[in-house]
Amino acid sequence: MKILILNGPNLNLLGFREPHIYGGATLGDIERLVRDKAAQLGVEVEFRQTNHEGDLVSWIQDARGVFDRILINAAAYTHTSIALRDAIAATGIPTVEVHLSNIHARESFRHQSLIASVCVGQVVGFGTASYTLGLEAACNVNLKTKG
Ligand code: DQA
Repeated sequence: MKILILNGPNLNLLGFREPHIYGGATLGDIERLVRDKAAQLGVEVEFRQTNHEGDLVSWIQDARGVFDRILINAAAYTHTSIALRDAIAATGIPTVEVHLSNIHARESFRHQSLIASVCVGQVVGFGTASYTLGLEAACNVNLKTKG
């Protein structure tokens, strides 16, 4: 099984960025944790980050026929991007949404995820473990494709 792991804007600044909210781990640390978990689960992962919405849309489109699952932390685009939502819906690749922080316990503008309804599920609020829990979910859960 091949899983595409996508990270949106400002996640390249993890470790430095608001550590009281996001913790001290860098994106490189998260990639290492995810690769360790993927090795345990016997799955292949590709890990990417971009600050550009269009990159995420193109990567999701291009995942068709290449990846079996997508794990995405769309960061701020979670709350704004109909384009991302439409790309996930269009490809139909089972997608798991993750966030380091509990978006539902923060500012009201973070409570809405525009991608949640087309994702299989959401793992939020567990820090770096949101990624490893999300990876396990993507591998093991009996996934429906669309909301
Ligand atoms: C985030 C939550 C988003 O609201 C925020 O814009 C981020 C990070 C998280 O992982 O907690 O950039 O996706």
